[in-house]
Amino acid sequence: MTNPATDSGAPIAQPAPKKEDGTVEESSHEQVVTPWEVQGAQVDGKLVAIDYNKLIEQFGTRRIDEPLLERLERLTGRKPHPFLRRGLFFSHRDLTQLLDRYEKGKPFYLYTGRGPSSGSMHVGHMVPFIFCKWLQDVFQCPLVIQLTDDEKFLFKQELKMADALKYSLENAKDIMAFGFDPEKTLIFSNLNYMNAGFYQNVVKIAKCITTSVSKATFGFNDSDNVGKVHFVSVQAAPSFSNSFPQIFGPKGDIPCLIPCAIDQDPYFRLTRDVANRLKYPKPALIHAMFFPALQGPGSKMSASNPNSAIYLTDTPAQIKNKINKYAFSGGAATLEEQRKFGGNPDVDVSFQYLRFFLEDDEELADIEAKYKSGEMLTGELKQRCIAVVSALVKDMQDRRKTLTQEIVDKFFNAGPRTPFAPAAPVQAST
Ligand code: TYM
Repeated sequence: MTNPATDSGAPIAQPAPKKEDGTVEESSHEQVVTPWEVQGAQVDGKLVAIDYNKLIEQFGTRRIDEPLLERLERLTGRKPHPFLRRGLFFSHRDLTQLLDRYEKGKPFYLYTGRGPSSGSMHVGHMVPFIFCKWLQDVFQCPLVIQLTDDEKFLFKQELKMADALKYSLENAKDIMAFGFDPEKTLIFSNLNYMNAGFYQNVVKIAKCITTSVSKATFGFNDSDNVGKVHFVSVQAAPSFSNSFPQIFGPKGDIPCLIPCAIDQDPYFRLTRDVANRLKYPKPALIHAMFFPALQGPGSKMSASNPNSAIYLTDTPAQIKNKINKYAFSGGAATLEEQRKFGGNPDVDVSFQYLRFFLEDDEELADIEAKYKSGEMLTGELKQRCIAVVSALVKDMQDRRKTLTQEIVDKFFNAGPRTPFAPAAPVQAST
């Protein structure tokens, strides 16, 4: 149940029930969604898909509904992105209020991030960045991207500082390859960037969050290092515009919109509570569903299991092999049964990947109908998925190769930038 006075709602740390020996109860448990763990519920030993309606209720967010999509289209003059049309960005906080401001010609900026846990991002990480690129094009707004190499250093016991920094640079280049406008985009590594405005906000935020709130929200215990307990202050700081005085000035009066998958919401629930106390505008959020791991629904693609993920560095042969070998199929047990009863696209990982990345709405609907009716078999579906994902990854690799040192420096340059004038709304809403 959400506390109406704050955004905090229920603490997020709801680990799956454990047996006495510490292992997870196998037959049934509730779904778990935290910044570190995503697992669908288990009912009678069977893993089920993530229940996003339940998350909306539990986290106290708003559903993105048709009227909101229509308003977006009216205001921007652009058809909503396929991620919105297909319900993959499904929930928000205060997006309506942000659009009210935009309609009045008042500026906002975008804030997102990445925790560089490995040298390459995976295709699931592409989701918020593809969406940010679209939002930047549509709203012509500035974007700040935080690389939380400090977070990874603090949370991964074995990670060396030098490796955290190396991953940060490699991931930054992956991110630059999405085609953001370098004039309007700042990418920064926490370990390398902390100006006075930014650090002052980190400290102000830290003063508002007690150890017990951080522990309850993130599930820390007394053996966790103090850096973990404090880290939320660092991820919260870019939500306030005067953390970037060189871009937005010293007042801290410009709100931001944060696109991310819903696993990051706990950080921003606390941020929004703190914003009230510091008299800053609350950040608005827009939440994505999880791009599933190859092994199936009820999961998220995660960098920590190489066989669950397709990386932006994978070759076409690796992608083909991973999808053929590991992509969970919603098909029937035998060819005959598949022809007779059809497959289940809702749990079929290849279909879910197409739902994210196949641009053509008509083709997607056609595939869904044919797969459901048994006309299309799992093998054919996998072939289409392999083609789409391989093309996407190759495109990213090609664009990354074109990055020059000048462009890289431009994205990292924290110096003054062109003032960001908000794009005018296309049409006033009624
Ligand atoms: P990280 O590196 O875990 O994830 C980076 C972004 O990708 C999203 N994401 C996914 N989206 C869809 N499907 C998936 N399987 C999937 N896996 C990850 C995450 O929600 C995130 O948006 N602490 C953060 C870094 C961060 C950040 C932020 C993220 C700092 N500031 C502001 C979002 C917004 C992290 O480790 O993200």
